Amino acid sequence: MERVSTGISGLDKLIGGYPKGSCVLISGTAGTGKTIFALHLAQATCAAGKKAVYVAIEEKRSNLITQASMFGWDLDAYEKKGLLKFVSVLESRMADAKYQFDSYGSEGGFSTIMEGIDGDVDVVIVDNLGILALEMSMSHFRQQLDYLVYALSYRGCTTLLICDETTMVKFGEVATYAVDGAIRLMKRDNAYTDSRERAMEILKMRHTKHSIDYKLFEITDKGISFVD
Ligand SMILES: Nc1ncnc2c1ncn2[C@@H]1O[C@H](COP(=O)(O)OP(=O)(O)OP(=O)(O)O)[C@@H](O)[C@H]1O
Ligand SMILES: [Mg+2]
Repeated sequence: MERVSTGISGLDKLIGGYPKGSCVLISGTAGTGKTIFALHLAQATCAAGKKAVYVAIEEKRSNLITQASMFGWDLDAYEKKGLLKFVSVLESRMADAKYQFDSYGSEGGFSTIMEGIDGDVDVVIVDNLGILALEMSMSHFRQQLDYLVYALSYRGCTTLLICDETTMVKFGEVATYAVDGAIRLMKRDNAYTDSRERAMEILKMRHTKHSIDYKLFEITDKGISFVD
């Protein structure tokens, strides 16, 4: 099976990369490193000369460019080369805010995500799907997610869906079933060292042999790196 580099060397060693054409869900509480996780994939994809679309739902393009530059990654240059495209759902969300206030209670969908993806794209990143799911019922969420996963897979895209923990508490079980792979990021207490540490857990990765142990990682000036 063909694999797509995650951009995180420790993770590539662990799972051999994301299965090409799969849809992988990254979840975690605030500040656990979800966006940085996604930036690794964008950087690695473009560095390999492939095309990526980053659907930014809650952060401005400029913030993502700045965060990436802290790790020495020039996403702006990839955009200029036509390898990377930022789709900012933030602006249209804010423009829609008044309408949404007025029609409070109406259920939206994930169609805005597909609208930004045109032509041949290798990798799609959606950060953060949870924002579009705030008002959804369980059945509506499942139906929307199933179609999104199907449509992206039909297009041959390897996809990283980011999802906040609040949405995972509400829809997590359903979301984890609907995707091909799922990784949960967390911050936890280490009782032995009396300190906090970052860890990730691979909940599932179809077609892949992997460890189910917690893997410790750090966020350094090079991005995410595994702790031995
Ligand atoms: N250059 C850096 N060096 C070390 N740690 C950093 C650096 N830049 C960011 N961080 C750490 O990464 C965290 C942010 O990571 P990230 O934005 O990926 O989290 P997130 O899970 O997407 O959060 P949110 O749910 O708020 O979107 C910061 O709170 C900080 O702890
Ligand atoms: Mg984030």
